[in-house]
Amino acid sequence: MNFMKNESAQKLRGGYYTPPDLAGFLTRWVKEISPKSILEPSCGDGAFFDAFGRVKGFQKVAVTGFELDDEEAAKAHTRAREVGLRDASVHVDDFLQWAIDHIHDRKTKFDAVVGNPPFVRYQYLPAPFQVRAEQIFKQLALPFTKHTNAWVPFILASMALLRPGGRLAMVVPAEIIHVTHAQPLRSYLGRECRRLVVIDPEEIWFSDTLQGAVLLLAERRRNESDKPEGLGMYQVKGREFLDLDPAKVFTAPRSINGKTVDGKWTRALLDQETRAVIDELSDHREVHRFEDIAEVDVGIVTGANKYFLVTDDVVRQYKLDKWAHPMFGRSEHCPGVIYDERQHQANAQNGNPTNFLWFLETAAKIDAAAKAYIKLGEEMELHTRYKCRVRLPWYTVPSVYATEIGMLKRAHNSPRLILNKIGAYTTDTAYRIRAFGALGVTPEKLVGCFINPLTALSAELEGRHYGGGVLELIPSEIERLMVPLPAKVTIDLVDLDKAIRSMQTHEVLARQGKTILGALSLSRAKQECVLAGWSRLRDRRQRTSSEPVAESD
Ligand SMILES: C[S@@+](CC[C@H](N)C(=O)[O-])C[C@H]1O[C@@H](n2cnc3c(N)ncnc32)[C@H](O)[C@@H]1O
Repeated sequence: MNFMKNESAQKLRGGYYTPPDLAGFLTRWVKEISPKSILEPSCGDGAFFDAFGRVKGFQKVAVTGFELDDEEAAKAHTRAREVGLRDASVHVDDFLQWAIDHIHDRKTKFDAVVGNPPFVRYQYLPAPFQVRAEQIFKQLALPFTKHTNAWVPFILASMALLRPGGRLAMVVPAEIIHVTHAQPLRSYLGRECRRLVVIDPEEIWFSDTLQGAVLLLAERRRNESDKPEGLGMYQVKGREFLDLDPAKVFTAPRSINGKTVDGKWTRALLDQETRAVIDELSDHREVHRFEDIAEVDVGIVTGANKYFLVTDDVVRQYKLDKWAHPMFGRSEHCPGVIYDERQHQANAQNGNPTNFLWFLETAAKIDAAAKAYIKLGEEMELHTRYKCRVRLPWYTVPSVYATEIGMLKRAHNSPRLILNKIGAYTTDTAYRIRAFGALGVTPEKLVGCFINPLTALSAELEGRHYGGGVLELIPSEIERLMVPLPAKVTIDLVDLDKAIRSMQTHEVLARQGKTILGALSLSRAKQECVLAGWSRLRDRRQRTSSEPVAESD
């Protein structure tokens, strides 16, 4: 968990500046429409002004910049003068407030917008800024969520302030492609733009923010008959593309529309052939959406994991046997697909917290040992913690039940389901899953068939990932996963469990793909296409930084 007090002032205002080569490239693209007015909504120290100064003819352009930080704004102002911009103004003000006042003003429209909006989580924004962020969504009649981040209303407002046919060229967080909270923005861009291109680098730019960035080139539709073409993804390695003509880069990728633009943009990272195979498989009668075959629930929320999840030693020391129940929750505690007594004992012997303490008064009388442990918790003030103080009594964890299948929230390579043979509990690092039993889906069949290239690829398409490159799925994303369940296939789980523990994920998926996708009569070439699609998205997610990571991270 990141706490606001631990964040640097630079991070809290999203103050990471655009390098000259990227600002220059974006400026050259915008130059093609010979703009007379340009907006820079969060100009920092004026990195883009510098780029304007290098373009012949830009000296006369009316440049409007905004910057909250007065020292940075002063630097930007000086820069504008030094590079010869004759009609530049820098407002030391909140851009979002200005946008709210002008968004529906037909006369205030810019030919182009360039920049690199601040990356600041909604919960870290001061209250008045939160209100304004929400107001931008309202003014554009878009659904708002508190999961948003400053860059989202910034791009929305920037786009709304662009004239028809105008261009927006920005450095934006790479998560624009997949985060759920940015869906209203993706849909808005899809509707408003004639064409969108995302330049997606193989390396991580701006690694010190741990976010990674992409370039967004968007051209607004001129009028109603200017039909949206959709999104093109231009994948690059290194910075050589910056020497190319930006017009060529903008027109190069084949644009895709429909499903791809309406949802997450991850589909656009795949080639056309792979997208076609996915569509073919999604219509196959033995391929199901997860929500049609099983239900997902979050794991047990203890409110104080270190206190409620303990080792055998703690159970012995405090004589808590009566209250201790088996549990697992980390990937290293269940490296395969079966959680059984043997795995449990091995975890316990390694000193892992394999016990969940459930002080349920209706099950037994709270004895002296439990009382002593509860008192210890109160001395640690655990009863005042939010999750604990809202329940009665604070030490009885609610919603405790185990399911036959567990699934860890996060996965390094690809997610897997775990057959829970000993009824162990799982906490909030895992989900509890129940197969409906309809279509003859037993827990064993679901766990076995879940490991295959198609499900792994759909997890990459539906899930999310952050700086560290770990894949995370929330319940609504799991519900959309594609799971092939061919009637004639039976997977030997013991064998699969061994394979997962000893082989590379790629090999296991290839082997399972032959069995499971083969049983759907999918050709070998198409199986390989799905596997290669998974591998490509997995590698992209785990890509490494091109710059040294900052010490503070
Ligand atoms: C990622 S930096 C980019 C600066 C510059 N556009 C560049 O490309 O180098 C974002 C800037 O936005 C500024 N900022 C943050 N919130 C703002 C707001 N509400 N209005 C105007 N500027 C803001 C920050 O102070 C920071 O300088």
